Parts: sequence; structure tokens; C-alpha cells
Amino acid sequence: MGSAIITNNLTKKYGELLAVDHINLEIKSGEIFGLLGPNGAGKTTTIHMLATILKPTEGTAIVAGYDIRKNPKEIRKKIGIVFQDMTIDRNLTGYENMWINGRLYGLSGKALEESILELLDYVELKDWKDVEVKKYSGGMIRRLEIARSLLHHPEILFLDEPTIGLDPQTRAHVWDYIIRIKKEKGMTILLTTHYMDEAEKLCDRIAIIDHGKIIALGTPDELKTMVGQDIIYVRIQSQNGRVSGFIEKLKSINSNSSVNLNPPNLISISVKNAPNVIPTVFEIADEEGIKIIELKYSRASLDDVFLKLTGRRIRDESGSWTDFVRTRMRARFRRR
Ligand SMILES: Nc1ncnc2c1ncn2[C@@H]1O[C@H](COP(=O)(O)OP(=O)(O)OP(=O)(O)O)[C@@H](O)[C@H]1O
Ligand SMILES: [Mg+2]
Repeated sequence: MGSAIITNNLTKKYGELLAVDHINLEIKSGEIFGLLGPNGAGKTTTIHMLATILKPTEGTAIVAGYDIRKNPKEIRKKIGIVFQDMTIDRNLTGYENMWINGRLYGLSGKALEESILELLDYVELKDWKDVEVKKYSGGMIRRLEIARSLLHHPEILFLDEPTIGLDPQTRAHVWDYIIRIKKEKGMTILLTTHYMDEAEKLCDRIAIIDHGKIIALGTPDELKTMVGQDIIYVRIQSQNGRVSGFIEKLKSINSNSSVNLNPPNLISISVKNAPNVIPTVFEIADEEGIKIIELKYSRASLDDVFLKLTGRRIRDESGSWTDFVRTRMRARFRRR
């Protein structure tokens, strides 16, 4: 499998701010690759450089076989992009929005008409084709934007925060389309997101980006096992049994398990595979005369990976009100 995108020290500075800091990535043809990071991490700036909308300050990238510095025109024919902020004209119908975009790509006549209808059908908007976009829901607009980005049969699709501001059910619906596009059209997809669940659900591989730097890269599973461990929380009845013996034995469950006692009757144990280990925890408790009054566990998440690497959490308010307001405010600003 070849590479769809290779970046070479790709860098963007805004004044003193290093928005994208010497990024080296290789994205394989046919994969869904995710750039996961918090607000301001440099995701949009990276995508805009790869899509030849922004010029790098330093470094370069090869996209669909062409250098972004030398052959931006060639690259534009081979890529599709859905921007983070809504770029559809709300006063036009879905069909009209598609038609204008098709004309921009030099498509016309019957061929354009057929492509539009096929794609609107693909994203289940055919019945809405003659309705003004202002009557569409957020999810329908996103689907229309995705359909529009596919009109000229791109090889690589850039999706910048494809489900930002959408409610959870609508997000899942948009995810289905993204997965279908990869499978049925064999397209390479580079998406950005600050939603962990989205990255995990969609991406074959993920690069975690923070302050313009790639701080981790791998499949969702690789990332989680790299730093994230499952955590078992055990609440024990205070002042009974041999607590120190219990803790010592817990420490030896996995070679790299760590055990914390804090506050006095709450023990957290980080282990590789919590469900496998839980019976052993009960056995050890019996041996040491400890009474467990509560036990729960959490599986390692991509957020744990980010926390471990940066000491901070990625905001994860799925379809949150803040995202919604942010997206709407920007879209409104642009329309002026
Ligand atoms: N045109 C610009 N001029 C100056 N600074 C900018 C500009 N565009 C972005 N930045 C800054 O560059 C950094 C990276 O921004 P970018 O939009 O790429 O981040 P992001 O990861 O897409 O974040 P978000 O989640 O907000 O979309 C941020 O600190 C941002 O404020
Ligand atoms: Mg962004």
C-alpha cells in the first residue's frame, strides 16, 4: 500500500506562535487517519497546508504524489475538503450548492447533473434537493458538505471536525457515511477531531497533536496499550485485615501494575486487562482478610493517553453546546 500523504518537517508560524511544529507523518493510501487534539492544537492549520490553502513557513508535504509547494493546482484536483466551519450557502438549495461546486471543478451538463443526483442519493438527501439549506438540520448540512466534496472524485478527503456541534445520534449517522466512503470508494481520509470516541470509532491510525507537535501515533489499540492501562478502584472496609499485605500482593499481579492507596480505604490498581484481573483481586483480599465493599473499573481510553503525555485532558463534550455555538458564530461571521 502506497502513501497518500507524506509530510516533511511541515511547519507553520503565526508571528511568534508555532501553530504546527515540524510534523513528520506518513498517511497510507486507503486508510482513515485521525489528527486528534484539543482546541488550538494545530489541526486545522495542518489540513489547510496539506490542502494547499495555506503556505507552510518551513518544510513541505507530498499529497497524492505532488509537492504542496510546487504543484498546488495538481493537488487540488485530487483532494476534497469539508471545512470545520459551515461553508454551504444557506439561501440556496442542496442541488444548487452542489451545482456551483461542480462548475468550480469544471464539471457541467448531464454528467454534472447525474453526479449530483447520485451523491445526494448516497447521503440520503435526494428528496431534499430542491429545499433551501436553511431548512436542513445540522447533520443534513454536514452530509451535503461531504457529498459536495466528493463531486470531482477526489483520491484524498480532508474532513476537519466532521461532527463538531452535532448531537450524538447525528454524529453516529455521519460516522456511518465516513466509513462507507472509505469502504466503497477506497478513499484515503484525513480527519481532525477533538472527540476521542470519534477518533476511536473511525480511525485506522491516530496521531495525537498538542501545541503543534505530534506527541503519539498508532492504532487506537496501540495508543491505549502504550500508556493507558485499565484502572480498578477497590473500596475496602477500613481497619480490617492486612492492608499492607493486600497492597503488596496487588502490586505483583502484573509486572507493571501500580497500586495507590488514597484516601485510606480506596485503592486504585492500574493493570493491563481489568476484567481478567478482578477475580485475583478478590482472592488476594480473602487471603489477607480484607473486605471489599465496592469495586469498579475503567478501561484505558485515548483521553488517558493524552493525560499521561500532557498532564491535561482533551475536552470531550460530545456534540456540546460550546461546539455548537462556536460553529454557528463562525459561520455567521463568515456570511457577513
Ligand atoms: N490566522 C491565524 N493567525 C494567528 N494565529 C492563528 C491563525 N489561525 C490559527 N491560529 C492559532 O494557531 C493555533 C492553531 O490553530 P488551529 O486552528 O490550527 O487549531 P485546531 O487544532 O484546529 O483547533 P480548533 O479545535 O480550535 O479547531 C492556535 O493557537 C490558533 O489560535
Ligand atoms: Mg480546527
